[in-house]
Amino acid sequence: MTDLLEVGVLTPMHETARRPLYTETTTSQALYLPIAPPTLGTEGAIIGRELYSGKAFIYCPFSAFGDGLPGGNMIVMGDTGRGKSALTKTYTARQIRLGRQVVVLDTKEQKEREEGEWAALGRSITGKAPVRFTPGGGAGASCINPMDPAISGKRQIELVRTIVEVGLGNRLDEFAGSALRLAIRRARERAAEAARQPVLADVAAALRAPDPADAAAKQRTLDELLADGLEASYVLDRLCGGQDATGDLTGMLDGPTSIGVELDADMVVFDLTKVPSGGVATTILVAVICTFLEEVWLRPLCECGTAPSRHERIVVDADSGAWEIGPNPDSQCRRYTQRKRILVCEEAWHILGTPQLAALLEKFLKFARGYGLSCIFIVHHLSDIDDSPETQASLKMADTIVIYSQKKSEAEETVARLGLPAWTAEHIMRLRRGIALWKVGDVIYPGVQHLLVEAEQHLCFSSGSMTDLATTAPDET
Ligand SMILES: Nc1ncnc2c1ncn2[C@@H]1O[C@H](COP(=O)(O)OP(=O)(O)O)[C@@H](O)[C@H]1O
Ligand SMILES: [Mg+2]
Repeated sequence: MTDLLEVGVLTPMHETARRPLYTETTTSQALYLPIAPPTLGTEGAIIGRELYSGKAFIYCPFSAFGDGLPGGNMIVMGDTGRGKSALTKTYTARQIRLGRQVVVLDTKEQKEREEGEWAALGRSITGKAPVRFTPGGGAGASCINPMDPAISGKRQIELVRTIVEVGLGNRLDEFAGSALRLAIRRARERAAEAARQPVLADVAAALRAPDPADAAAKQRTLDELLADGLEASYVLDRLCGGQDATGDLTGMLDGPTSIGVELDADMVVFDLTKVPSGGVATTILVAVICTFLEEVWLRPLCECGTAPSRHERIVVDADSGAWEIGPNPDSQCRRYTQRKRILVCEEAWHILGTPQLAALLEKFLKFARGYGLSCIFIVHHLSDIDDSPETQASLKMADTIVIYSQKKSEAEETVARLGLPAWTAEHIMRLRRGIALWKVGDVIYPGVQHLLVEAEQHLCFSSGSMTDLATTAPDET
């Protein structure tokens, strides 16, 4: 040791160096768990740390996909004020830094800001205001047309049927369903003849004026076909307001599509906060937006913005003719790598809790995987959501479940419905704010603490109305 100190000039042999910390030996990990690698791997968005080990917790449905995680959809649940939105906001913002694109259906108004609680985050990322939906329409309000030709024929029929069924509060029988299908086709034809986009009012009109050829094809008299579809036409009239413009959907879904937004932006926030919560309008609006996004936003485009067909095909095996997508000659984009997307749905019990919508959603979620889409649904507890087979099926589509603190009865119901071990009920009741139980695939992480950095705090702050902020006047300090 003294020999070393006597060396005048540091030779490379004696250079002082900061030794890297090796963490791969299980011995060192066992001694000091926080230095062990994160359980879910190091790729993805940093969430925070696992409370019981101190290990970092990193999550990415796209990286973990297939590796113990069969799908990318997620449900975040828990009582109000526990940190559900804060987690989802920072998680999506951190994912955007990894190149993802995010769409948010924002349903909760932040009173002091007089806008949706996601507006500030959206603005800080893109500099753009949210896409606003307002009952009755008005200046700056957007409209999505369920009859938009951008939505494919089959999906459109399913969508309009769902709208009628939600408005009716009941399923349509076979005769009414068939009359509606015929009317949608006729409405499309009649609008095309008039060289304009069909709207829901055209479907109501077509239901009231059935075509003799349709009646003959279905072996019905014209009066019978009219009777089959009359109730559906009344429902559409009521929803769209008919003559007096007072319907639940007026100004939001009854005209041609007009969305003042760039759907290619990193984050698009749909502001539904002015739509009465819990009413049919929110439910239907969410269904229409999801279907519209599926048909318009989720086009399989490359990061360079072109369709796969614009890229070269490179044959990788001459014998079998197998090929892979190569560069795009115009944009010089080297590889077809579809941008991954995340859809956030706040207060999602409106859709998960409505069997007709849950059925539509289940189809959407099945598509989601093929499109590289991860959906996040935020709910309070499962008692808001009924136990119908459709709802059960759509709940099963979520492979990641994040549970914040819940009250006793709700925690017990959550544990029973999700088939979690019995001890988790008591544990869920005791979780503090910002700490959640995560279930990723089949693995349970009992205490994951979500960490907010200072720069993110003002974007997540949602409890202004209930917080006693310091009100000291400047001259008193
Ligand atoms: N991990 C966290 N660390 C610190 N503060 C948090 C954390 N999570 C949430 N909060 C704060 O708690 C409040 C309520 O959180 P929020 O996400 O809006 O709750 P929820 O969506 O469950 O109703 C917010 O003001 C937020 O800033
Ligand atoms: Mg919230």
